[in-house]
Amino acid sequence: MELEALNEKYDVTQNIIQIKGLKKSFDNGKITALNGIDLNIKKGEFVSIIGPSGSGKSTILNMLGALDRGDEGFINVSGHDLNKTKDLSSFRSKEIGFIFQLHNLIPNLTVVENVEIPMYEGDLSNKEIRKKALKLLEYVELTDKVNRRPTELSGGERQRVAIARALANDPSIILADEPTGSLDSKTGQIILQRLREIHEKENVTLIVVTHDLSVANQAERIIRVLDGKIVEN
Ligand SMILES: Nc1ncnc2c1ncn2[C@@H]1O[C@H](COP(=O)(O)OP(=O)(O)O)[C@@H](O)[C@H]1O
Ligand SMILES: [Mg+2]
Repeated sequence: MELEALNEKYDVTQNIIQIKGLKKSFDNGKITALNGIDLNIKKGEFVSIIGPSGSGKSTILNMLGALDRGDEGFINVSGHDLNKTKDLSSFRSKEIGFIFQLHNLIPNLTVVENVEIPMYEGDLSNKEIRKKALKLLEYVELTDKVNRRPTELSGGERQRVAIARALANDPSIILADEPTGSLDSKTGQIILQRLREIHEKENVTLIVVTHDLSVANQAERIIRVLDGKIVEN
């Protein structure tokens, strides 16, 4: 093996996330969202990403979760070179659990059905899928709400459904974009506590974008983003 390839392999096994020189612009280059990001994150780390609105935080998460592709640079997540990976949706469903500020639950499905959705990408039977969804909902203490619709739940309950859904395929990485942003601070702390518990018990790599410093400070490392660049790491 070439030395370069060896080095790359070595780094990738050390770091579950490896980004070098990542750039992304929108509107035919008029808006620069990411202006050369370098970032390594170790397996099992809990990292928070902070920075002003519009600085590029969500764009970083979207690249990590392969919801979007960069224009330039190297990005490897869980051993997948995302510029070369063809089946991004299979990568996503195997490796990534997403949690968004507004939870993105499907309103006309019940709570348990929402949690089941990501599992239909895998090879469990319908019966096994239901069983696992109910177990995850028990874990987030929503057993009494499994047949409700998201609109019938409080903000904190919805976010717990989103956590259960994010865990459905046993992801190696959880990406949470302002997960406490729409919650009061007490409810937000409970949600964060749950995420930390999962991170500690399952050794899941946890990346939380937040503008709440009391949330950010609980991470093992804070990454500060400004104008599409990492200014503190
Ligand atoms: N889909 C998009 N189309 C056009 N501009 C976008 C898009 N997504 C993000 N941007 C722009 O890229 C920059 C970074 O956005 P974003 O990553 O969402 O910031 P943050 O999450 O830190 O608030 C902003 O200027 C934003 O307006
Ligand atoms: Mg954002």
